Amino acid sequence: MLINSKRMTTAYRNVPKVTTHVLQEMKLEGEKIAMLTAYDYSFARILDKTGIDIILVGDSASNVMAGHTSTLPITLNEMIYHASSVVRAVKRALVVVDMPFGTYQGNSKEALFSAIRIMKESGADAVKLEGGKEVIESVDRILSAGIPVMGHLGLTPQSIHKFGTYVVRATTDEEATKLLEDAHLLANAGCFSIVLEKIPAKLGGQVAREIKIPAIGIGAGRYVDGQVLVLHDMLGLTIDFSPRFLRRYNNLAEQIQDSVNAYINDIKTIDFPNDREQY
Ligand code: KIV
Repeated sequence: MLINSKRMTTAYRNVPKVTTHVLQEMKLEGEKIAMLTAYDYSFARILDKTGIDIILVGDSASNVMAGHTSTLPITLNEMIYHASSVVRAVKRALVVVDMPFGTYQGNSKEALFSAIRIMKESGADAVKLEGGKEVIESVDRILSAGIPVMGHLGLTPQSIHKFGTYVVRATTDEEATKLLEDAHLLANAGCFSIVLEKIPAKLGGQVAREIKIPAIGIGAGRYVDGQVLVLHDMLGLTIDFSPRFLRRYNNLAEQIQDSVNAYINDIKTIDFPNDREQY
């Protein structure tokens, strides 16, 4: 791995609690921000012990945990259930919760109610929502209640039916200009960070340079202020999803299958339980 040959800043690894202000300082100091998803207590507990900066309770739970083919079906109650399980495990990382499809688009009053429910009932630190100009009224209203908001531009999975495909976004000048305008709009409104999903690396770098808040990429190249991946993808728990931006750090699906096969074999051969494993 290239990591050792590169300058690696970790000054913020010892902060007792990551806040939006800490993330802002990290951007100013040039320390990259590390973010991963989690949807349950056990994984969140493990992640929080590693020094991960942000844990995202993503609406990707809809695919990863519930087996839906998109993020659209997951409900506000389900997101709050996942988020409160994660919050119970986390002491250090900033916990951000995705606002699910249908809870913030079109009606800023409903957006505020949804965000308040997430914050009150889960105890999370911030919410994330997808889109720029189209949702700016909702963003403003949520921010005015003192709730930190993370934006999400580029590939926005909740709009999959509008685009019809998960290909790289903002590859035309027109789309890139709109994305830049949206990034400025969200930053000027007071969002504390923006996720950039599946856009050209050069554009990711431009956004990160132009806005004052951290831009965190997933398939947005290396010139942004931090990276996020879906935990189950990077651990190799999901095996049927292999976009170019995904680096797999393990093959847990194979390891779990091997362990379960060994368990089945031990039962069938009456090896388990042995004398020391019974009363
Ligand atoms: O829901 C999610 O997991 C996300 C990440 C892909 C950024 O929004």
